[in-house]
Amino acid sequence: MSSRQLLPSWKKLVSHAQEMKSQHMNDLFSTDKNRYEKFSIELPNMLLDYSKNLINSETKQSLLQLAKECDLEAWREKMFNGEKINKTEDRAVLHSALRGSVDEQLTVDGENIHQQVNQQLDKMSAFVGKVRQGHWLGYSGKRITNIVNIGVGGSNLGPQMVTEALKQYSDDCVKVHYVSNVDGAQIADILRPLEPEKVLFIVSSKTFTTTETMTNAKTAINWLTAASFDDKAVAKHFVAVTANPVNAMSFGIQEDNIFDMWDWVGGRFSLWSAIGLAIALDLGFDKFKQLLAGAKAMDKHFRDAPLENNMPVIMALVSVWNTTFLGAKSQAILPYDQTLHMLAAYLQQAEMESNGKSVTWDGEEIDYPTVPSIWGELGINGQHAFYQYLHQSNNIVPADFIGSVASVTPVKGHHETLMANFFAQTQALMTGVDEQQVREDLRAKGRTADYINKVAPHKVHKGNRPTNTLLLKRIDPHNLGQLIALYEQKIFVQGIILQICSFDQWGVELGKGLAANIQQELESHKLSNNHDCSTRQLMNYYLAAQ
Ligand code: F6P
Repeated sequence: MSSRQLLPSWKKLVSHAQEMKSQHMNDLFSTDKNRYEKFSIELPNMLLDYSKNLINSETKQSLLQLAKECDLEAWREKMFNGEKINKTEDRAVLHSALRGSVDEQLTVDGENIHQQVNQQLDKMSAFVGKVRQGHWLGYSGKRITNIVNIGVGGSNLGPQMVTEALKQYSDDCVKVHYVSNVDGAQIADILRPLEPEKVLFIVSSKTFTTTETMTNAKTAINWLTAASFDDKAVAKHFVAVTANPVNAMSFGIQEDNIFDMWDWVGGRFSLWSAIGLAIALDLGFDKFKQLLAGAKAMDKHFRDAPLENNMPVIMALVSVWNTTFLGAKSQAILPYDQTLHMLAAYLQQAEMESNGKSVTWDGEEIDYPTVPSIWGELGINGQHAFYQYLHQSNNIVPADFIGSVASVTPVKGHHETLMANFFAQTQALMTGVDEQQVREDLRAKGRTADYINKVAPHKVHKGNRPTNTLLLKRIDPHNLGQLIALYEQKIFVQGIILQICSFDQWGVELGKGLAANIQQELESHKLSNNHDCSTRQLMNYYLAAQ
């Protein structure tokens, strides 16, 4: 049993969950007219309504008590003060420093963090200016028109998600592409229409060892040198972002063309560093700074606001409540804003790679549910695909609905339809419709008794399905920064409450190691005897069928 389960608040929440499971949110709303005021938080440019969860004031108090008993506030300060809270890797966790949220004097291992960050921001700014103003020229003297970011996981999802979300803010000075998959189909497709002399590659890899990224980067180098007939062209067409400059240089990237990142930035939290270079090239450096400013505003709120009115804290506690205490297994991310079409994929990595673990930071087995699996899709598309499941399956899936008051691309009549659905869905998921109502509605439509008996059970919606609603004024660089930082800090809080080391990812190593061995075996056609018979036969089939 983990020490968390011995906390008075934890024990209270376990028994309170049993009581709450027999409640319906409809009753909670009808007996408390101030429910919205009690369970919502408004910040400049962003509103969180969490009233449509199976909670009451006692739930909230007990969850806040849990946060206190877990020393959340002290942990938060440890993070911002650069203590090595990534225990298994002995690293500080300072992605917030990338947006200027830490003390200017803060040092880690003798290095001033603020200075390191500013130095790289200056280097980025100068580089972005050169490329966008046409002063950075390719091997044939032509300006750069296309940027190809090669990277995977945190070196891809954050920058690509943001690039997509802020498309309307791009002046198309350069066109940005992302290559993440080692399936050659992706890079081949992207390179096909491009002119090598006008392309700049960014090889983004914290470790500079990731096989998929290295393979894509080699292909890109070959593509360039085949066209330029000159190895020196690499210096004009390749930059790297990495915490491993030695590897980047031995790969062939010129020292001046390397942007630093640091071991105190986790890959999945790195879009604020030079890993976000493609964003800055696309939007210009001022808008990149606005993104950082939005995240900084959220950091400030997270650090200063009382726990009961603290958006990341409340979102984390509600998630822990739904998952650990009420037993939800998954969580849907449902943006009602086309610009956020990659948000679910991004949050999958952010939350699942951070907290998808089953031992505590002290290595003890965890026997309570930790984080849900995260999945999602644009809300409207989901409505016509999987919402059936959200409304009527016997699995309860808590969902975050994310929408904007104003569309960045207004088209007459569209936004109202979109938002009407946005509001309708959370209401429907909460209220449902009971059999009596279904029968009355069918009778009012003149349906026969036989028809009503047959169809009524199928039309019942039990409701009581938890949702959070996040309503942003609009998607712009600042507000997007705020939104992403909200989820980042939520993930941190979840980790503290669940006693999980959120900043390592050992679970990705086993498969990586096996793949490296298997690749050698496939290339040499010599299979080792170490495989189970299923894997061995699959490999045999693959080799024989080639
Ligand atoms: O395999 C998972 C992972 O290590 C992620 O944590 C990381 O974001 C991604 O791979 C890419 O790693 P890198 O930036 O070192 O290439």
